[in-house]
Amino acid sequence: MRILGIESSCDETAAAVVEDGRRILSNVIASQAEEHKQFGGVVPELASRRHCENILPVVSKALADADMTIDEVDGIAVTYAPGLIGALLVGVSFAKGLAMMSGKPLIPVHHTEGHAAANYLVPATEDQPVLEPPYLGLIVSGGHTRIAEVLDYTTFRTVGRTRDDAAGECFDKCARAMGFPYPGGVHVDQAAQRGNAKAFKLPKAKMEGSPYDFSFSGLKTYIVNLLHHAEQVGEQVNTDDLSAALQQAIAADVTKKTIAAAKELGYQTIALSGGVSANSGVRNMLSEACRKNGFRFYMPPVALCGDNAAMIAAQGYFNLAAGITADESLNAVASKELRGETAL
Ligand code: KG4
Ligand code: ZN
Repeated sequence: MRILGIESSCDETAAAVVEDGRRILSNVIASQAEEHKQFGGVVPELASRRHCENILPVVSKALADADMTIDEVDGIAVTYAPGLIGALLVGVSFAKGLAMMSGKPLIPVHHTEGHAAANYLVPATEDQPVLEPPYLGLIVSGGHTRIAEVLDYTTFRTVGRTRDDAAGECFDKCARAMGFPYPGGVHVDQAAQRGNAKAFKLPKAKMEGSPYDFSFSGLKTYIVNLLHHAEQVGEQVNTDDLSAALQQAIAADVTKKTIAAAKELGYQTIALSGGVSANSGVRNMLSEACRKNGFRFYMPPVALCGDNAAMIAAQGYFNLAAGITADESLNAVASKELRGETAL
């Protein structure tokens, strides 16, 4: 079965064709990051306008690269939540029109579930089969940080989540304060390679209640204040060292909680995903901790960590198999829980 995926929740217009939820036939991404850079972050109105311009050429290219016409796809999967509402609406409206015109099933996909599905695109190796639920997912992006039990391909149960900022937001805001361009996470990662993480002692959030919840706003505020204070008194801050300390703090936090949750809940398999899963510190620390504990560990190749439509098409395949489809009443939703969950 071949699913066309469409993603437009933030500043990437993306389309892809994936076979049986596992094999990428095409994967096209038009990123607007360069344009938003001058504003230091995504400008929602601008993002929507660019999606409108990009969506037709991007979808056409995804079909052409897969050597297919729309009549040959078995379903059209689209990110309908969560994200920037005007941005989501472009993908949702386009997918609805396409489904109506072609008579193919329309498949709604939650963006966070899509991130998790990026790991279904990781091919089997000699040591490891392809990923199948149940497993414990750590999904870390610019908008979300959560540990979730993936009970089957379409049922999720959140074990821990951020109570304030997402890890990616913390990376980005600290990066901006250090003078790195948007999106800053990758620049922190690069600077961290040259730095000494021990040069700064950063605060650790104490979580009352759920031991697997996260809080990154205190860390962010501490770093931003440290930089502002240094600027006021004319001191130079070594941003390589600060980046290394920040990366180490975030990687240690997500690793410790994910491993503890896996042990408590009895999971042997952990899968990392989301934009921040591209971070070398997070990748190395969690994979090493999994190796030490004898857990199976999955993470997408860096190219599939950030927003893309291959992950949406992959999750779309499993949603369709579970009978999850939508009609022309499908609407974009800015904020939405995972499937099977009620608002916390
Ligand atoms: O998943 P994503 O592309 O968009 C959302 O769904 O939010 O995640 C984007 C986030 C941004 O905060 C970006 O800075 C961060 O992922 N990111 C990284 C790295 N690459 C992307 N953060 C740290 N290190 C990286 N190498
Ligand atoms: Zn994302």
